[in-house]
Amino acid sequence: MAEEQQYILGTDSTELERLGFQHRVWSQDAAALWSRANIQQGMKVLDLGAGPGFATFDLAEIVGETGSVTAIDISKSYVEYGNNQSKIRGFKNVNFLERQVHNLQLDYEEYDIIYCRWVLSWVEDVDSVIAESCRLLKPGGALLVQEYAQWGTFRIIPETPSIRTVIEACRESWRLMPSEIDIAPRLPEMFINGGLTIEHKGVLEKVSAPGQLVWQWPATFLHIYAEKLIEMGLLTEIKSTEFKNTWPILEANPSAMIVTPLMMEFIARKA
Ligand SMILES: C[S@@+](CC[C@H](N)C(=O)[O-])C[C@H]1O[C@@H](n2cnc3c(N)ncnc32)[C@H](O)[C@@H]1O
Repeated sequence: MAEEQQYILGTDSTELERLGFQHRVWSQDAAALWSRANIQQGMKVLDLGAGPGFATFDLAEIVGETGSVTAIDISKSYVEYGNNQSKIRGFKNVNFLERQVHNLQLDYEEYDIIYCRWVLSWVEDVDSVIAESCRLLKPGGALLVQEYAQWGTFRIIPETPSIRTVIEACRESWRLMPSEIDIAPRLPEMFINGGLTIEHKGVLEKVSAPGQLVWQWPATFLHIYAEKLIEMGLLTEIKSTEFKNTWPILEANPSAMIVTPLMMEFIARKA
């Protein structure tokens, strides 16, 4: 399917579940950014690359019935899931549209807030996506972004050879993508070119130990992505098995730590 070629992690039910879990781990950071940008009842929000809509529905609760959230995703299955959830949960102000972030076909100066998290690392021509987002914002509106800044800061401690092999294979897969995983540092220039003023910039990073919720996030990602790395020819079955056998030993180690990949967040506002 076209969407699966576009988005390296796929859009199956395992990925849907992983995105739900990922949102739980990072939802407080998302909420803090929304609050800092002063998202209020009645606002019109655009969620770019919304996936199945875990952030979308939180945003819909904030803007309430007098506001609305339009969620864009390239994946037909996520859009169907989102619209279905919207019906089941009784949201009348949420609409999922199957669109490319490059071809939004939306009216200019319509949105108070555009939110975009973990999307720009997977798309080409980010400059045009940001330029179009700037045009879609109302005067006074803000673009809110949370994206990877330096994936190479991801550390698992102690780093055994089998763990290092899997992390290296992930990094190789990012290098092979036509897009740029560490996109965040390039964004401020694009915001300024689009006529936005950067109101806030920050970094997001977590350190976790076995048993903590945050620990499960990279752990789940690596176990799922190892299968994709095998399909891509970047990891052998033997190395993947070695990695999986190492995991319980790592989790039993009281000094084990995971440092999550460095992300950056921005609020960029239109005059
Ligand atoms: C890692 S998920 C993040 C989902 C959501 N933003 C979140 O924070 O939970 C990336 C999403 O971007 C979508 N995506 C990737 N490339 C896209 C494109 N060119 N246009 C629209 N959506 C895209 C994928 O289908 C996927 O749902």
